[in-house]
Amino acid sequence: MRPSTLFIPHLLSLCALIGSVLAQDLSALLGQEDPGADISIVLPGQTGFANASRPFNLRFDFEPAAVAFPTSAQEISDIIKLGNKVNHNVVARSGGHSYVANGLGGKNGSIVVDLRNFQKITVDDRAGTAVIEMGNRLGDIVTALAAHGRGLPHGTCPYVGIGGHAVYGGFGFTSRLWGLTIDTIQSIDLVLANGTVTTASEKLNPDLFFAMRGAGSSFGIATAITVKTFPAPPTATIFSYNWQLTASEAAAFFSTYQSFVLTTNLPPEFGAEIVLTPGNVQGNVTVGLAGGWYLPIERLNATLKPFFDRVPPPRAASFDTGDYLHSAVNLAGGSLDTSSAPDGTDTFYAKSLMTPEASPISERALAAWMNTLANEGFNAPVGWFIQAELFGGRNSAINAVKSTATAFARRTSLFTIQFYASSHGNVPPYPAGGFTFLDGKSQPPLYLPANWDFGAYTNYIDDRLANWQKLYYADNYPRLRRLKDEFDPRGVFVFPTSIQR
Ligand SMILES: Cc1cc2nc3c(=O)[nH]c(=O)nc-3n(C[C@H](O)[C@H](O)[C@H](O)COP(=O)(O)OP(=O)(O)OC[C@H]3O[C@@H](n4cnc5c(N)ncnc54)[C@H](O)[C@@H]3O)c2cc1C
Ligand SMILES: *[C@@H]1O[C@H](CO)[C@@H](O)[C@H](O)[C@H]1NC(C)=O
Ligand SMILES: *[C@@H]1O[C@H](CO)[C@@H](O)[C@H](O)[C@H]1NC(C)=O
Ligand SMILES: *[C@@H]1O[C@H](CO)[C@@H](O)[C@H](O)[C@H]1NC(C)=O
Ligand SMILES: *[C@@H]1O[C@H](CO)[C@@H](O)[C@H](O)[C@H]1NC(C)=O
Ligand SMILES: *[C@@H]1O[C@H](CO)[C@@H](O)[C@H](O)[C@H]1NC(C)=O
Repeated sequence: MRPSTLFIPHLLSLCALIGSVLAQDLSALLGQEDPGADISIVLPGQTGFANASRPFNLRFDFEPAAVAFPTSAQEISDIIKLGNKVNHNVVARSGGHSYVANGLGGKNGSIVVDLRNFQKITVDDRAGTAVIEMGNRLGDIVTALAAHGRGLPHGTCPYVGIGGHAVYGGFGFTSRLWGLTIDTIQSIDLVLANGTVTTASEKLNPDLFFAMRGAGSSFGIATAITVKTFPAPPTATIFSYNWQLTASEAAAFFSTYQSFVLTTNLPPEFGAEIVLTPGNVQGNVTVGLAGGWYLPIERLNATLKPFFDRVPPPRAASFDTGDYLHSAVNLAGGSLDTSSAPDGTDTFYAKSLMTPEASPISERALAAWMNTLANEGFNAPVGWFIQAELFGGRNSAINAVKSTATAFARRTSLFTIQFYASSHGNVPPYPAGGFTFLDGKSQPPLYLPANWDFGAYTNYIDDRLANWQKLYYADNYPRLRRLKDEFDPRGVFVFPTSIQR
């Protein structure tokens, strides 16, 4: 089935698009390092630098001090030691899809450790595990694991890197079944701020293992993860339903969905998101329910019946059933291959809201929210979509993990709602009105109780978020600060939203 039959246009177009020391001094210093002399490195002004330092989000324009392409953990260690010597921050980049160009340091003057040479994937069929090096993209991982009949939970877009997923979360439609990407990690090979090459697991360096899974780029540069893989489901269906609703209908719809996912004994094989986009006419909202179903198709309708009995009939529906690999290809927009076409870019601002299961979004907040989307949203100077991803509900593997087990603190969320708006044409400049729209009534917290315990998702990282320490890390933040002091006392891995000492 062609991806165009899914009614999540923005999501799919996203997948399809997709200092103090002079450069010469840095080069000279690097040349002095032995055995680091052979490390491939690109400096400002050199051929290829613009390409090597191009962010996914063109809202940012950062100039790193250097972009290095190491081929071993030892070379990464050499680069980190060099960064220490010349007083530059060092930062890892995997797939380069950070929303705020944190893979380039999130500011000017960092030394970027580009992991593209770390491409190996080794599958252990007997143990059901895989060792995945950090330069891999999600598309390549799906293909490699599916060849062994295995799968891993992660996002849908093939060009996103495993690096950002492995250190911050990693949500996909199999996450209610299998957890976040970080929940599958058994051990992490990494290089510390002082250049030490080490491993973190439950047994080895458990504090570091905690910190790496949720706040990883503040603590080390991961070179590989050993993950638990899962048997690929024999049948998977990618489904999509579409409605055109007035604001008040959309509010009732969301409310009905919210109580459905809270009260139903939903199987973990149900992965879904509500997708909101501008309506066909001012006053309306386009509403989609899209997701993956990893049980036989016959059982999907029965599962959703109590919900469908209470909402208007969809204008359209599509179902694409096949094996697990087929479902991943569908979600990727038609191809998992990341080698033949160049990666895309966008110019956008995004923010997120993780809603507590214990305190659903109120009717009043939903009414105001949908009214704004149907009116202000219709006239917004940006192309936008909102996705309410289902993290919780009964039987969710994400919420089965204790909130103190990993740095990823928000283990009682119902939805992770992403608000994403792009400039027209997806090129700079990003209009000021795009910030106003997302900052304003495009999201519900304004109408919620003052003590509402909501959060935000580190992989939808937001450069304009106040109180991010609490929203991202909740009660884990004090422990992370102590660990930052222990593992990075000099502040080598420092970028906007890095853990503060
Ligand atoms: C088109 C698109 C679709 C997306 N879809 C999803 C989705 O379905 N589900 C989801 O959960 N998220 C999704 N995301 C968000 C995505 O998970 C984050 O942007 C993620 O951080 C990107 O990882 P990256 O390696 O590509 O990015 P990078 O920019 O390379 O890295 C992101 C951050 O991780 C750090 N990092 C990278 N590699 C390492 C490493 N080896 N060691 C330590 N730190 C490292 C970087 O320093 C940076 O801070 C999507 C993003 C985009 C742009
Ligand atoms: C940019 O870098 C990528 C990855 O190394 C490479 O495939 C591509 O050819 C480069 N593009 C240009 C214009 O140099
Ligand atoms: C970062 O460097 C770029 C390119 O040199 C420059 O355009 C930009 O203004 C710099 N940003 C800051 C915050 O200094
Ligand atoms: C707006 O939504 C209403 C309610 O479903 C629908 O009847 C109407 O056709 C929609 N308008 C357009 C232009 O789609
Ligand atoms: C499930 O319901 C949809 C309509 O919502 C219908 O098109 C489809 O045929 C049904 N599938 C099965 C297997 O009953
Ligand atoms: C590097 O840092 C780690 C973690 O703090 C520490 O255990 C180790 O002794 C340090 N190594 C050196 C050579 O300082």
